[in-house]
Amino acid sequence: MSLSKNFRKKYGPWVLVTGASSGIGEQFARLVAAEGLNVILVARRADLLQTIVEELRNQHGVEAESIPLDLSTPDFLDLLLSACEGKDIGLVISNAGFGLKGLHHEIPLEKLSEMLDVNCRAALMITHSFIPRLIERGRGGIILTGSMEGFFGVPWSAAYSATKAFVLSLGEALWSELRRHNIDVLVLAPGSTDTETHIAQGIAREDLFGLKPPQEVAKLGLEQLGRSPVYVSGFLNRQLIRVFSKLPRKWAVASMGAGIRKVILRNRIRSRNSESFT
Ligand SMILES: NC(=O)c1ccc[n+]([C@@H]2O[C@H](COP(=O)([O-])OP(=O)(O)OC[C@H]3O[C@@H](n4cnc5c(N)ncnc54)[C@H](OP(=O)(O)O)[C@@H]3O)[C@@H](O)[C@H]2O)c1
Repeated sequence: MSLSKNFRKKYGPWVLVTGASSGIGEQFARLVAAEGLNVILVARRADLLQTIVEELRNQHGVEAESIPLDLSTPDFLDLLLSACEGKDIGLVISNAGFGLKGLHHEIPLEKLSEMLDVNCRAALMITHSFIPRLIERGRGGIILTGSMEGFFGVPWSAAYSATKAFVLSLGEALWSELRRHNIDVLVLAPGSTDTETHIAQGIAREDLFGLKPPQEVAKLGLEQLGRSPVYVSGFLNRQLIRVFSKLPRKWAVASMGAGIRKVILRNRIRSRNSESFT
């Protein structure tokens, strides 16, 4: 992949990627390193991060560092900032996140609270801390990974969709605030992407259609940075958001929820059946 000639000049020399141990974040890291940018990778799984860091150093001759961190912890920001000290970070990719599916009142409160911390609080604190540095250098970018679920309240995914609505609003507003400072902001809303996140949410891979490879989604995000405040990956996904936005809100919300409810219930029945055979 080759990004625009100016990419390295505007967003280099260092790129910070959260949620870089797998999925879309890992691919963001691989793609920018292939363009010759240095990377700082954040996630909890230190072993995975270390493997990626070593591969990127060997394959692309870039500097790469890992910061094993849990973004849901109260003191993560101090640790992150001290690990980033002395690095001229031009692009901040706040991508770490996870979802929880099910009826809102049936999901344990501590899991919901952790999701709020990772998906919203971490994005808020990271952008707040890095924006002054980007303004000072007079150029740079921020990518926030949102979701199509951020456009509507989604039954059976109520809190997750709410966290992604937060990311959408935050990113759109920052896009406008930071334009005059030559800082590009993009909210990337990946459609269904082939990552670990679905299994973790109790959704079987075979129940999803049109899954895109995470590399394709990350590449689109990098290419769209600087072009618009929000990018929904996938033509059909963009049409879906357009059509649903024109529907009466109650129909849009009900339609979004119906599909999710079906795949979760199907998966629960499958697991119950497989347990009863063992
Ligand atoms: N895949 C999709 O279809 C899809 C659709 C819409 C939006 N998204 C969004 O895309 C982003 C990336 O997800 P993905 O699909 O690539 O799934 P993924 O492979 O599960 O990646 C999630 C990343 O977030 C990190 N993470 C989770 N909790 C963390 C914590 N407490 N502290 C630090 N890092 C944490 C994970 O690393 P560790 O486990 O090592 O900490 C991992 O690197 C998320 O924001 C997700 O909501 C995905």
